[in-house]
Amino acid sequence: TEADARTAAPQCPVAFPLRRPGRPFPPPEYATYRGGAGLVRSELPSGPVWLVTRHEDVRAVLTDPRISADPSKPGFPKAGRTGGAPSQYEVPGWFVAMDPPEHGRFRKTLIPEFTVRKVRELRPVIQQIVDERIDAMLAAGTSADLVESFALPVPSLVISSLLGVPKVDRDFFEDRTRVLVRLSSTDEERDKATQALLRYLGRLIQIKQRRPGDDLISRLIAAGTLSRQELSGVAMLLLIAGHETTANNIGLGVVQLLTNPRWIGDDRIVEELLRYYSVADLVAFRVAVEDVEIGGQLIRAGEGIVPLIAAANHDATAFAAPSEFDPERSARSHVAFGYGVHQCLGQNLVREEMDIAYRTLFARIPSLTLAVPVEELPLKYDGVLFGLHELPVTWK
Ligand code: HEM
Repeated sequence: TEADARTAAPQCPVAFPLRRPGRPFPPPEYATYRGGAGLVRSELPSGPVWLVTRHEDVRAVLTDPRISADPSKPGFPKAGRTGGAPSQYEVPGWFVAMDPPEHGRFRKTLIPEFTVRKVRELRPVIQQIVDERIDAMLAAGTSADLVESFALPVPSLVISSLLGVPKVDRDFFEDRTRVLVRLSSTDEERDKATQALLRYLGRLIQIKQRRPGDDLISRLIAAGTLSRQELSGVAMLLLIAGHETTANNIGLGVVQLLTNPRWIGDDRIVEELLRYYSVADLVAFRVAVEDVEIGGQLIRAGEGIVPLIAAANHDATAFAAPSEFDPERSARSHVAFGYGVHQCLGQNLVREEMDIAYRTLFARIPSLTLAVPVEELPLKYDGVLFGLHELPVTWK
C-alpha cells in the first residue's frame, strides 16, 4: 500500500537544506543517499518531498512530462525564503514556472537572443562592464569585498545593458535587484522592490514601443508574440535568474583560482566550477501531476520532488572522482543549468561572463589575495543558492 511504501522509503533525518560543512562540496549526506536508494523522503516548510540524488534520476525528473514546474499545482514544494514570497511566480511571463505547451511560446521567442553567436557579440559590452568595476575598485583603495563591488554588480549590469536599460537608470536597477537577492530583506521589502522594478520595466517597454533601440526588449516587442505585461515579467525573470547565480559562481571561482593559481587563464575551469559548486542545487523544484516511477521508486500524483543538482553533479557514475576539482575532465554533462525544457536560457552568457571576469581580474590585479583565511570565508547555505556572503580581498 501507499503507507507501506512511505514507511519503507528511507528518510532524510534533518531538515532541508543541508549544510555544506566544508570542502569538498556538496553535503556528505548526498553521497549516502545516492549510494543507497537514490530517492529519500524529506520535509520542507511546505510538506514532505522526495529528494532525488542520482545523475540519471535527476535527468529523468527534469524531462518527464508527468512532472510539473508550475508552483500553483497542489503539493508543489516551497523552501524557506521562496516560500514566503510566492508573488514573483504570479507575474505574467514568469515562464520558468510554466509547463509545455505554454512555456514553449516564451522559450521560442527568447532562444535567438541567447545563442552562442549572439552572446559572443556581447563580449565587448561584458568586457567594458568588468573593466569599469575594476577601475572603481582600484580607485577606491587596496582592498574590497569582491562580492559587493564585483561579483554582484557585473551580472546585473550585463543584463540591464542587454535589456536596454539606459545608463542613468542602472543604479536604480542595481539597488532594487540587490534587495531581491539580499538574505536580510523582508518579504515586504522584496515585494516593494519587485513592484518598483515591474513598474519601471512597464514604462521602459512603453518607451521602446515608440522608439525602438538595439536591445532585447525592442526585439521582443518587434517579434509581437508577447503582451506588454508578459514582456515586463520576462525582463524581470532574466534579471533575477541571472543575478545571484552568476555572482556566486564568480565569487567561488575567484576563491578557487586564488587557492589554485595554476588554472588562472585556462577557460576549462568554467565548466568544472559550474559542476563542482552547483550553486543552484535547490532551484529546480517540481511536483508529480500523475503517478510516476523514478529510479525504481513510485512517486504519487501531488507529491513534491526536489532534484538535487549538486548531488547529481557529484555522482561517480557520471563523473570520475567527483569530489576532485579537475578542469581537465569533461564536465559538460553536468546539470548545473538544469536539464530538459527549462534548462538555463542564460548558460552561454554565463560562460562568457565567468571567463571574462576571471581573465580580466587576474590580468589587471595580479597581486590579488584573500584578506582572510579561506576557512573563514562566510559561506551561504541558508537560501536556495549556495555561495559566499562576502569575499574580502586585498592587493598591492
Ligand atoms: C533556468 C541555473 C544564470 C536565465 C535555470 C535553471 C537552472 C539555472 C538550474 C533551471 C531551473 C528549473 O529547471 O526549474 C543557472 C546558473 C546560472 C544561471 C547556475 C549562473 C551560473 C542565468 C543567467 C540568466 C538565466 C545569466 C539570464 C539570462 C534563466 C532563465 C531560466 C533559467 C530565463 C528559465 C528557463 C526556462 O524555464 O525555460 N538556470 N542560471 N540564468 N535561467 Fe539560469
